Amino acid sequence: MSHPIDIYRPEFEERIFAVKPKSVLDVGFGDGAFLRRAHERGIQATGVDHSDERIQAAREGGLSVQCAVADALPFADRSFDCVAAQLVVHHFPDLRKSLLEMLRVARFGVFILDPWFDETIPSQASAAALERWMKAIDRAQGGVNNGPLTAEDFQRALPGATIDVAYRLTLVPDAVDERAEKCTAYLDKIDKPETFRKELDRLIADARRTGLTSEGAIFVTLAR
Ligand SMILES: C[S@@+](CC[C@H](N)C(=O)[O-])C[C@H]1O[C@@H](n2cnc3c(N)ncnc32)[C@H](O)[C@@H]1O
Repeated sequence: MSHPIDIYRPEFEERIFAVKPKSVLDVGFGDGAFLRRAHERGIQATGVDHSDERIQAAREGGLSVQCAVADALPFADRSFDCVAAQLVVHHFPDLRKSLLEMLRVARFGVFILDPWFDETIPSQASAAALERWMKAIDRAQGGVNNGPLTAEDFQRALPGATIDVAYRLTLVPDAVDERAEKCTAYLDKIDKPETFRKELDRLIADARRTGLTSEGAIFVTLAR
């Protein structure tokens, strides 16, 4: 199933391919789609993920992967030309530690793609508020789901570093009723949903006033 962020992936991946890497490490490779696309271009592509299920599925698909977390990568310094981290940095328990670790194993740099909202636009501010609401439920259950992250979060994590940031936004309208349904189903995840339900009602009322648009993207490049 396609995800709104997919609209930004081709440009993000071209930024990596433009460096003409011989090798890439994909941190939090998920279903392995990027590993396959990199491999098709003749790039030696390796993935790490902390999910045993993801590892098993990737190995069955013939991909080169290892089970590891981003803040303890089992590779020597400068093992890969480029390191990619797509839709995963908001799951890092310690952003600074993981960014430093990805930089350690990169020869050229680290390329990050994550969802982002332009909160100066009311339909985006409403979408960001709903995103924060869902992330708070994940955190209430012990999961790590931060953000949406902005350039400031990366600067705070790596003060003194030069950080290249590009924001991208294609305004795609999102159906408020469908989002309300999805969020209401999310309430099933928690035991005492009253406070979250009240907050959701308020956010959905805001969304009906402003409309909703899908997320934009933040591209962050950390060069060595
Ligand atoms: C939202 S998915 C994104 C998958 C893929 N990169 C993509 O763009 O579609 C996040 C992936 O990162 C993995 N993950 C989350 N936190 C991680 C961490 N700290 N270290 C390694 N993998 C992690 C998850 O298991 C999951 O496969």
